Amino acid sequence: MKQMIIEGNHKLKGTIEIGGAKNSAVALIPAAILAKGKCIIKNVPNISDRDALIDILKLLNCDVTLESNILTIDSTNLKNAPIGAELSNRLRASYYFMGALLGREKYVEINIPGGCNIGSRPIDMHLEGFKALGATIETHKDKYILKADKLIGTDIFLRFQSVGATINLILASVYAEGTTIIHNAACEAEIINIIDFLNNMGANIKGAGSSTITITGPTKHHDAEITVLPDRIEAGTYIILGALCGDNLCIKNIIPAHLEALTTKLKEMGANIKINNDSIIISETKDLKPINIKTLVYPGFPTDIGQPMSVLLTQCHGTSLFEETIWENRMGHVPSLNKMGAKIKVNGMSAIIEGPTKLTGKEVIATDLRGGAALVLAGLIAEGTTIITDVEHILRGYENIVTKLTNVGAKIELKEI
Ligand code: EPU
Repeated sequence: MKQMIIEGNHKLKGTIEIGGAKNSAVALIPAAILAKGKCIIKNVPNISDRDALIDILKLLNCDVTLESNILTIDSTNLKNAPIGAELSNRLRASYYFMGALLGREKYVEINIPGGCNIGSRPIDMHLEGFKALGATIETHKDKYILKADKLIGTDIFLRFQSVGATINLILASVYAEGTTIIHNAACEAEIINIIDFLNNMGANIKGAGSSTITITGPTKHHDAEITVLPDRIEAGTYIILGALCGDNLCIKNIIPAHLEALTTKLKEMGANIKINNDSIIISETKDLKPINIKTLVYPGFPTDIGQPMSVLLTQCHGTSLFEETIWENRMGHVPSLNKMGAKIKVNGMSAIIEGPTKLTGKEVIATDLRGGAALVLAGLIAEGTTIITDVEHILRGYENIVTKLTNVGAKIELKEI
């Protein structure tokens, strides 16, 4: 078990370099087995979710090498094997092996996936889609067995633009016979990254970034390369940090177009922000205006930036509203923020936030990845020392967070307890 100790109230200055996107990398790694050869994935973030996926690849007899942030995966000699609870529980994205193995092997045995406790997280749309492609699904207590003699392309209508279902169904359908059309698909930039990778290995997928994705299969695949796109959620978290306590804090290696929902809100609040081609420079701004935030699917305001943003709302002059629409349980960090001095009232999936409030260091608990990141931001502007426990949640998704923050002047350390 690790805890994070933060001495707050220091101005942050310098440059934070953003790594590869977690939510792209965690799908690209399982997708690599669809090449049936050697894949090179560049700019892979150094996060514990990466390590959990590498362990699953090794279980499946893939050759894996990691040098700095370049991951090489050779799945030529893949041997299918049940993915047990110990591995699948370590992260949500273990479920991308459902689509990838069903596509390649037509058989998958996997325990239910893990991930943050931010809602009930059903996977009914994934399973319905696999069935529509011709798979049969047995559900045993904590385990799924998916099998098919062959997969046949079909029309799949998603009732919600689910990121995970869109990706999983693309993975399964590259080896399906004929045309699969996914209607009401998610449009996140990460999905374009996955489709580019699959097309690089020989797949025939059209419509990336739109809500209609067409996959024509089966295609013959070969070795391929891809670079993980920059993490817009990591970037968004540090941009918000800049608005809280930055002194010309530069957030570098980003794609500003992916962050427009956030930067538009920051401008509306009156934040001191300068947007360049691949970086944003941001400083603490006094007298921030209160605003209303409602999280939506891409290109709306990202649910994953809502919790960090709630910390900035505690510093606005007046009453702000933070409304979550994707996950039922995105307010796990609020009791900790209130313990530190925030005035936040939660009503179901919404929160009313009164500001500005002075925050004071306390001992708090990271209940989930983005809620944990919100507590790091709060600790960095609080008077005194903040101790965050259960930081494993944070390390799942923010690479080298302590080093990156220390390099810009934060007083933060990780301690084994
Ligand atoms: N949903 C269903 N049935 C399904 C699938 C989803 O009802 O079969 C519902 C979910 O319960 C939720 C909504 O649809 O209410 C959205 O779920 P989605 O499938 O889009 O989310 P996900 O793929 O499980 C990914 C990210 C999340 C991010 C969401 C939304 C990964 C590994 N996770 O989750 O990231 O919040 O998309 O953008 O890509 C995070 O990084 O902290 C994180 C939670």
